[in-house]
Amino acid sequence: MIRQIKYDDWELLLEWRNHPSVREASISTSIIDVKEHKSYIKHLVDRDDRVQYLYVIDGIEAGYIRADYNEDGTELSYVINPRQQGKGYGKRMMAEYLKASPGSYYLHIKESNIASLKLAEANGFILESKKGDLIKLRRNMTDLEIIDAVEAARKGNNTNWMDLVRLAFEVAPERARPIFAKINRGDGEISKLLDKLAQNG
Ligand SMILES: CC(C)(COP(=O)(O)OP(=O)(O)OC[C@H]1O[C@@H](n2cnc3c(N)ncnc32)[C@H](O)[C@@H]1OP(=O)(O)O)[C@@H](O)C(=O)NCCC(=O)NCCS
Repeated sequence: MIRQIKYDDWELLLEWRNHPSVREASISTSIIDVKEHKSYIKHLVDRDDRVQYLYVIDGIEAGYIRADYNEDGTELSYVINPRQQGKGYGKRMMAEYLKASPGSYYLHIKESNIASLKLAEANGFILESKKGDLIKLRRNMTDLEIIDAVEAARKGNNTNWMDLVRLAFEVAPERARPIFAKINRGDGEISKLLDKLAQNG
């Protein structure tokens, strides 16, 4: 299960953030103090440039994944609970996140972080560039994810369209009816043209 971070999670997250394995993998390796960290977690909910999720599996708080929205797209970063690393949770967390929020994302990973590079590659990220010891990988939406997104948008728009029809018939049914008759005739024309297209072989 992936859920949004709550204020009560601060202690757990601070412990993970200050663990040597996590600091070593981070761009900023300094120890974070309690006050600074509590303030960060407290203000997380108000931010519109960042969302951070906790990954809970079989009742175990296994890690977190964070999305930062910026000019270059959406950057993901993640940490697996230091006591749970190397058990496949990182790979699974990323796969579950991408399933729940399909999209185009990028990552920055230190060249020495083999587990993170493997996790990324297993989830479809490919090398984009390298600067010093930092590797940038990117993952674009797959064809099927794009089709699913179009389907979801169409479903949403179908509801919007029907709401508009309801409004028209509630407010001015006598004016709405002939317009809808015209739309229906237009649809008939489109249907005939599509028939022609289908038989145009
Ligand atoms: C990097 C991290 C997220 C990986 O998550 P994880 O749950 O430990 O990794 P997984 O068990 O899912 O393993 C992913 C792959 O790395 C391999 N792996 C795991 N630990 C490894 C290690 N210490 N050294 C080399 N490979 C390792 C696994 O065998 C697996 O490879 P496979 O795809 O060939 O099976 C986690 O170790 C972590 O939080 N590290 C500290 C913080 C960090 O590095 N964050 C990412 C910053 S970019």
